[in-house]
Amino acid sequence: MNIWTPSSWRDFPIKQQPTYNDLEKLAKVESELASYPPLIFAGEALNLKKQLADVVNGKAFLLQGGDCAESFNAFNATNIKDLFKVMMQMAVVLTFSGGCPVVKVGRVAGQFAKPRSADFEEIDGVTLPSYRGDIVNDIDFTEKARNPRAKKLLKAYNQSAATMNLLRAFSRGGMADLNQVHLWNLDFVKDNYLGAKYEELANKISESLTFMKACGITSENTPQLNQTTLFTSHEALLLNYEQALTRRDSITGDWFNCAAHMLWIGDRTRDLKDAHIEYFRGINNPIGCKVGPTMKEDELIQLIDTLNPNNEAGRLNLIVRMGANKVGDFFPKLLQRVKAEGKNVLWSSDPMHGNTIKADNGYKTRDFEAILSEVKQFFQIHKAEGTYAGGIHLEMTGQNVTECTGSCSSAVTQESLSSRYHTQCDPRLNADQALELSFMIADTLKEARKNLA
Ligand code: PEP
Ligand code: CO
Repeated sequence: MNIWTPSSWRDFPIKQQPTYNDLEKLAKVESELASYPPLIFAGEALNLKKQLADVVNGKAFLLQGGDCAESFNAFNATNIKDLFKVMMQMAVVLTFSGGCPVVKVGRVAGQFAKPRSADFEEIDGVTLPSYRGDIVNDIDFTEKARNPRAKKLLKAYNQSAATMNLLRAFSRGGMADLNQVHLWNLDFVKDNYLGAKYEELANKISESLTFMKACGITSENTPQLNQTTLFTSHEALLLNYEQALTRRDSITGDWFNCAAHMLWIGDRTRDLKDAHIEYFRGINNPIGCKVGPTMKEDELIQLIDTLNPNNEAGRLNLIVRMGANKVGDFFPKLLQRVKAEGKNVLWSSDPMHGNTIKADNGYKTRDFEAILSEVKQFFQIHKAEGTYAGGIHLEMTGQNVTECTGSCSSAVTQESLSSRYHTQCDPRLNADQALELSFMIADTLKEARKNLA
């Protein structure tokens, strides 16, 4: 194998990249970024890896979620706070009802670059480059907007830094205090039966906290009660950006991507001979790789061997995204093979990306029933193999959007999609739908863990 460096990916074929006109400007931006402080510290990434090893061993559950694509326009404190709240709610539901510690990882503070099914988009006879996320170009359908601009990498870095700063403040500054469990319920969620179900659970937690306080265990003397960690993650697609934030850790001497705690490879850029695999094999963060229906058994084993040659638990998260009508046909064989070869991997389910459909009115959407069905099948397949379904990967928001249809709590129909359809890219679960899903997963998780014990 060739010698790895943060830039060795440049010698490999690469997919899903923008074409910049001004390469000099791009190089200047890259070197400026390379001089900026890292957004995370290597020790944090190693800590996450340890927590993910617990997931591999069936002792915890991974909750990964956030926007499909963060945007420069929707960048404000409310959006960040509401995502934080709904992740906390979901985690508390899974911990309390599922009886299992939850590792929380946001698709946030850097989730900007998007792979697209076509390089160009045509509207009314006009053809322009596809929108590739706010780190690359703008979503408006004009020539100026769609032209990739290197300067946007700097804006993405700054937005990531500010987002990370607020998330750290919420995590440590009191917002995560379990005594605040009632305040995590968002106003529009409170109004329906799900809000009431959550209130019931929150009341039980409050009662337990009162009891513990009487025993002398309080937020003041037990940091676990009033602090949390929300790790960050994104698809490391735009490798110019990722390379600039790849740094050598002064303690271990190892290379880390310091743009996020965890990075993943998309389903369209996981070709073994390509640049993304080359880049990922050299960083020491915990990493993920999407596994879609076209993945072959041998290919998956080679991929695991390349990305996790020491078979380290917690290093590699395989994020299965087959679709509700394919997961039953394609996933069991992959799982059996990986199990037979004794590979330590974390299996999580992304029930979003294989279930995208076009509504009759042209909106890209996903139906809650299909999402739920894929998750349920994922758990059943693991149960049949005696393996552990370790996590869930969701596109979701704390906002009351109408992007995915269905669910009991949120009556979004294909007709009502247009009322609050705000996503920059793929349709997200709104806070109601995300919470409803976590209640359902909690029940399944409890069962799955009983079988494991
Ligand atoms: C995504 O996670 O937004 C994405 C593009 O997923 P996939 O690579 O699985 O299509
Ligand atoms: Co997406």
